[in-house]
Amino acid sequence: MKEWTTEERYRVLKDASEIRDLYDRIQASDYRQTYHIQPITGLSSDPNGFIYHKGIWHLYYQWCPWGAVHGLKYWYHTTSKDLLHWQNKGVGIHPDIIYDNKGVHSGSGFSTDEELYLFYTGNHRDENWVRTPYTCLAQLTEDGQLIKQPEPLFGPHPDYTEHQRDPKVVYHEANQTYYILLGAQSKDLKGKVLIYTSKELLQGWTFAGELKVPGYEDLGGMWECPSIARIGDKDILVFSPQYTKLPRRGNSTNHNIYLIGKMDYENLTFHADGEYRHLDYGFDFYAAQFAANVKEEDKAILTAWMGLPDNHYPTEEEDWEGSLVLPRELRIVNDRLYQLPVQQIRELRQKKVEPTGRLPRVAEVQVKHTGGNAQLTLFSKSDGTGGLQLSYDAARKTVTIDRSQMELRFNEAIGEVLEVPLEEDLTDIALYLDRSSVEIFFNKGEATFTTHLYPTEQESSYQASPNLDLEIWMLRSSVTDDFVV
Ligand code: FRU
Repeated sequence: MKEWTTEERYRVLKDASEIRDLYDRIQASDYRQTYHIQPITGLSSDPNGFIYHKGIWHLYYQWCPWGAVHGLKYWYHTTSKDLLHWQNKGVGIHPDIIYDNKGVHSGSGFSTDEELYLFYTGNHRDENWVRTPYTCLAQLTEDGQLIKQPEPLFGPHPDYTEHQRDPKVVYHEANQTYYILLGAQSKDLKGKVLIYTSKELLQGWTFAGELKVPGYEDLGGMWECPSIARIGDKDILVFSPQYTKLPRRGNSTNHNIYLIGKMDYENLTFHADGEYRHLDYGFDFYAAQFAANVKEEDKAILTAWMGLPDNHYPTEEEDWEGSLVLPRELRIVNDRLYQLPVQQIRELRQKKVEPTGRLPRVAEVQVKHTGGNAQLTLFSKSDGTGGLQLSYDAARKTVTIDRSQMELRFNEAIGEVLEVPLEEDLTDIALYLDRSSVEIFFNKGEATFTTHLYPTEQESSYQASPNLDLEIWMLRSSVTDDFVV
């Protein structure tokens, strides 16, 4: 693995020509995704500024141009009319003012319906590499220009550590107040959400206090990327706690969880109805963000980084890694969350594949389960060995997923086997396979599982136990992979 110096990681991109060769080389990779957003070069991580505005979905990602390394971060901009077909738009926000001199870190979008604003964390470092995070504001004008407000909205709060970032902006109609939720770490190294409020969107922000989440005072050492949405009459709070292990997550210390309940904006308290749950039970899912300005009240839209901090993926060798998960629709039925890829995904179906045991690399697989223990293996070799193995234990209502039999193994240290607990007996599974990922939705989205996966040419078969009925479609591509910087 390449060792990166600080200079290399924090090199400023001055001209698109500097990464043209890298882009050309990466195009030849066997693992470029076809219907998932991915970095044009280098590394993509968190989704940022996800919003619907004037008929267009805007979705940015954290981007480091030079290689598969976390260094100087930009927001890279993509847009879509349908949450399915995405176009590259080039750099959305450059780190080019003193307040963001070492990175434009994560944040969210806010639409007044007339104007589109982007709130982000300016990652400032001084000559001694001491970090100061600022909450910054920019506007994306109708003609595509980005205008940064020259001064930040506010700097760090002195009672917390340097980890204060990832502004999520919401407007609370009842008291006509704007709120910013910030991921933070207390001085005793606990994960927190800080709240700033203002009567105006563009100025007047003051610290209102810490979000109280009764029962969750001690969960993890930092909460990254808090995001909140309303679905029907429930609020859903998602965040990414770090520096702790959690049940069902192997040895990983990075997680993405949610609470359903009621957000009391007056008293800065989130009352959870029940225990936290994992947004996704897979290996590679983090920093999820709700889209802002979704007009339907009975659903939310969410995407996430398909990857984890501190993890490494085989395409690092090719100087790129990362992808966003498919945008998902979230609904709450009988107080339970259901997640499915946006319905439009059906438009990608092309030829139906005869179930002969050969698995296309890019496919949708719909599985019906007729009862009992079951076994499904994807990407096995022609002699039936290897592959990604899913085993359903009907007595425990649990699916065990094992990626250790794949030829290209990675992140073995966090564990290669995870379990998905189901509330109900298994009835159906929907799987979306792209060239370096698999997303799995159980029981119409009652639980989900996302993993990167890097099948080799020999790994192109599947096997299913007789109580599983499979339908397989090849899928069209829906992301353009053009060189736009
Ligand atoms: C989460 C995160 C955010 C931060 C960004 C920097 O993955 O650490 O908290 O803003 O990544 O890239």
